[in-house]
Amino acid sequence: MNALTLAQQRYTTKAYDPAKKIPAETVERIIEILRLTPSSTNVQPWHFVLAESEQAKTRIAKSMLGTDDYNIPKVMNASHIIVLCSVNDVTPEHLEKVTDCEVAAGRYSQADRKRLSSARRDYVALYRSQGKIPMWVENQTHIALGQLLWAAAMEGVDSTAIGGYQFDVLDAELGLAEKGLHSSVIVTLGYRAEDDPNVSKPKARLPLSQILTVLA
Ligand SMILES: Cc1cc2nc3c(=O)[nH]c(=O)nc-3n(C[C@H](O)[C@H](O)[C@H](O)COP(=O)(O)O)c2cc1C
Repeated sequence: MNALTLAQQRYTTKAYDPAKKIPAETVERIIEILRLTPSSTNVQPWHFVLAESEQAKTRIAKSMLGTDDYNIPKVMNASHIIVLCSVNDVTPEHLEKVTDCEVAAGRYSQADRKRLSSARRDYVALYRSQGKIPMWVENQTHIALGQLLWAAAMEGVDSTAIGGYQFDVLDAELGLAEKGLHSSVIVTLGYRAEDDPNVSKPKARLPLSQILTVLA
């Protein structure tokens, strides 16, 4: 399938078939594609939480109780859930971890290490001075969201991005603050129910004339 057809056919699943589970190899591939998400200066300011068991899904669904109940069946009936989390701050320890990984991957030599880590630190210092760290971090995690939705579609897996939940409730349930993290968005993955009301709805996007300017 070409990319345009995929973009036309992927859609936000509103009802999942609880009997259908994603094969383990497919989940592994999707997670690996998620890990390969690009980010500004390769900062990778994220952490992903994967849930598959009833118990784990119930813990996530708690954050929707009373405010976003319409999202609960998606979480409970989907095959797998991924909570995309972001770091609360881009710490020197996090930056060291990224540099270690780049050197270990053979992308840079040990000799480059100093120059490399100071260039990234300079960017972080600039964004910090502009009060932009939270926005910068959140932007990167949302690139991961896009990559995840796309990967799922490529793998023939249906998905739903979910921002409708109580962030503080989920963060407390998962003990994220203690890990220097917060949740950014949830994605449910699985297979559509036969009666999913969203499947037959046409796509609605603003026309190019409103969203595209060709610069002269
Ligand atoms: C960040 C984000 C949060 C979203 N939150 C929810 C949600 O809480 N519940 C839901 O049913 N859909 C949610 N959606 C799905 C959007 O409503 C949907 O992507 C949009 O209407 C376009 O429809 P399509 O994905 O079917 O093309 C969310 C999408 C994004 C990108």
